[in-house]
Amino acid sequence: MSRTIIALDFSTREEVLDFLKKFDEPVYVKVGMELTYACGTGIIQEIKAMGHKIFLDLKLHDIPNTVRGGMKNLARLGADIVNCHCAGGIEMMKAAKQGILEGTPEGAEPAKVIGVTILTSTSREAMNNELGIPGEVIDTVVRYAKNAKEAGLDGVVCSVHEAEAIHAACGKDFLTVTPGIRLAGGDVHDQKRVATPAYAKEQGCDMIVVGRSITKSSDPAETYRQIEKEMA
Ligand code: C5P
Repeated sequence: MSRTIIALDFSTREEVLDFLKKFDEPVYVKVGMELTYACGTGIIQEIKAMGHKIFLDLKLHDIPNTVRGGMKNLARLGADIVNCHCAGGIEMMKAAKQGILEGTPEGAEPAKVIGVTILTSTSREAMNNELGIPGEVIDTVVRYAKNAKEAGLDGVVCSVHEAEAIHAACGKDFLTVTPGIRLAGGDVHDQKRVATPAYAKEQGCDMIVVGRSITKSSDPAETYRQIEKEMA
């Protein structure tokens, strides 16, 4: 199975369909708020019907009852992975999982639920001074991952630099999905805690999320193949 998830950060259905035509096999894609808010949830079912796997990255964060209701409705869309923010706490994460289990149609495989730890665009300075969380990023990320595990989630979103510590704390089967991936020498954009696919593999990351390095490449399918090779 592919270990690279391509972030479809587009704003129109046409851009998405044009982009997906460049691949001659099903791929794993991430649909986030940009595309969902522009096209509605129908785009998720449409991409799924084309045979692609979907990580639905809507990062739910609200009171437990609302997250449960939201997840229950998302469960009908057929995504393979969904997520919520670990910052919502253990009760909220439990509610997210419960919503998915309640909403999954009979006979269908429930989506995996993963928790977003500290965003890969957040530096230690921002975490300390703006969010008011003292200490090193890795300590908060590992604490959030342990909370996610306690809540019954299947894994977390984290940076490559934290994957090893999370596996040590939560077990090898606890999924680590890592954005902030950049090709050697590539533009970092707004990301802060970045790493190459090869380093992600070395750190034991289960899956990587790659957006602009693939979507803005002059040959996205070839860049995707190169990244998959580095991860294999
Ligand atoms: O273009 P780039 O490779 O930076 O895209 C990364 C994708 O992963 C974006 O869609 C972003 O929303 C998502 N993401 C992230 N950091 C997280 C969680 C999700 O960059 N912690």
